Amino acid sequence: MARHLITSAIPYINGIKHLGNLVGSQLPADLYARYLRGRGHEVLFLCATDEHGTPAELAAAKAGKPVADYCAEMHAVQAEIASGFRLSFDHFGRSSSAQNKALTQHMARRLGEAGLIREVTEQQMYSVADGRFLPDRYIEGTCPNCGFESARGDQCDNCTKQLDPIDLINPRSTVSGSTDLELRETKHLYLRQSALKGDLEAWIDGKTNWPVLSTSIAKKWLNDGDGLQDRGITRDLAWGVPAQFADAPWQGMDGKVFYVWFDAPIEYIACAQEWVDAGKGADWERWWRTDKGAADVTYTQFMGKDNVPFHTLSFPATILGSNEPWKLVDYIKSFNYLNYDGGQFSTSRGRGVFMDQALEILPSDYWRWWLLSHAPETSDAEFTWENFQASVNKDLADVLGNFVSRITKFCRSKFGETVPEGGTWGPQEDGLAEALKSRLSAYETFMDDKEVRKAAAELRAIWVLGNEYLQSAAPWVTFKEDPEKAAMQTRLGLNLIRLYANLAAPFIPDASTTMLTAMNAQNADWPTDMVEALHSLPAGHAFVVPEVLFAKISDEQREDWQMRFAGVRT
Ligand code: MF3
Ligand code: ZN
Repeated sequence: MARHLITSAIPYINGIKHLGNLVGSQLPADLYARYLRGRGHEVLFLCATDEHGTPAELAAAKAGKPVADYCAEMHAVQAEIASGFRLSFDHFGRSSSAQNKALTQHMARRLGEAGLIREVTEQQMYSVADGRFLPDRYIEGTCPNCGFESARGDQCDNCTKQLDPIDLINPRSTVSGSTDLELRETKHLYLRQSALKGDLEAWIDGKTNWPVLSTSIAKKWLNDGDGLQDRGITRDLAWGVPAQFADAPWQGMDGKVFYVWFDAPIEYIACAQEWVDAGKGADWERWWRTDKGAADVTYTQFMGKDNVPFHTLSFPATILGSNEPWKLVDYIKSFNYLNYDGGQFSTSRGRGVFMDQALEILPSDYWRWWLLSHAPETSDAEFTWENFQASVNKDLADVLGNFVSRITKFCRSKFGETVPEGGTWGPQEDGLAEALKSRLSAYETFMDDKEVRKAAAELRAIWVLGNEYLQSAAPWVTFKEDPEKAAMQTRLGLNLIRLYANLAAPFIPDASTTMLTAMNAQNADWPTDMVEALHSLPAGHAFVVPEVLFAKISDEQREDWQMRFAGVRT
């Protein structure tokens, strides 16, 4: 039995996430957590909301609410939707927690004491009307390069030139539209990442088993231009972890907060403290401190590719620079993007399916199955309604659902709702057990390796084996000649349902529960011996025919949804 710490990138607090966000971090992390628990390992699976920063402030202002209230409400909303998708977090924390505030300030102090923080005085755009400094992307104006009128302060979306807000012609605030902007002097803290470059490089070079997507992004940033840049870790904002505090090794940072990307990953640790403080766990240090037992922990992070630089460089820089024995990540599983029906998911334009809407139209297993079996691992993937309909109807309704309903209904009609007695296995059954055994071992390897799509394909192949067996054994035919043999075939079929329920639980937990409940076998356990597993429901064991596991998606439904989600979110 091993111990596994698993974290999913923590979603921003503002707004409900779309299916592309879900499949890029929370959902595969949940798959892995469920799988490892199923195999008897000790797992701590953490996620949280990422609550600080300008977007949260602006979203709260738009909603007409104090930012703290807005975040509390949105956290509850996201927690509810997460549970709707059966995301089995041990704790769903908040980066605005007291624990994270204390730990973020502690980390900053350690970095400061190690000489890894520089104070830099710089000029920044201040909006007099808004009464605040404006981050680059909240300033718009005319591009000096191409004349595009809504170029952002950091980049022109029309000609892609990287810009500085002072380059813009007629700059204005996108918060208020005001043009009353001026450059003001302000002081910020910079983390001297360049001083940690050698350590980071050595650490990443040791990660030979990571997906190429993770290491290639890390190396690109390590060696980009003049190497790893020092990074500003404070902002002129009100909402965040205060950068000035009692034992801070600097002065004059009043009214400023840490940059959201500085405190958010620290929440991975603080979340374990919140888990303990909420009474759900006894000891967080054995998960996070290598001097307190965490050296035995395997730590896996899940995230979209845009998050990789922060997890391979920035957060490790914080940890290494603190010079304290915090656990570093062992494996970074990163994902490409999921596109939506010929374009991108867009939160601002409401294009695509958002998590709340998905659950309004279908139960979570349908989505979990499609998303995981099409996870954007080696390249970007695309959600289309046609593909979704085809996968659900084929994999879930025909292959799995039909198998379950056929065998249970057949048994009920010929033998009643009890596992029938009589007959013994022949070569066909031995062959099936062999085939299942080798497929199971492939499935386990893919799951251990976090090869999500391949694992899904293997699971489906395991379901197909059952269908093929049933088709060729044809107990409904055998029954006429040899009822004993038909009983044996049926008994095996019923045991396959139990096996499938156990193996499929990480992907489709609700259907798995339905199957186990119907089989009157609530105790889920991972098969270790295939022949034994296929005999675990003995003759005489009572069961019931379950409800239809998966309903097919009709063409009308598909067309209806296609229209509904093409446009602007209402
Ligand atoms: N909120 C970020 C995003 O959705 C992810 C933050 S992950 C953490 O892209 F490491 F900072 F926690
Ligand atoms: Zn331009």
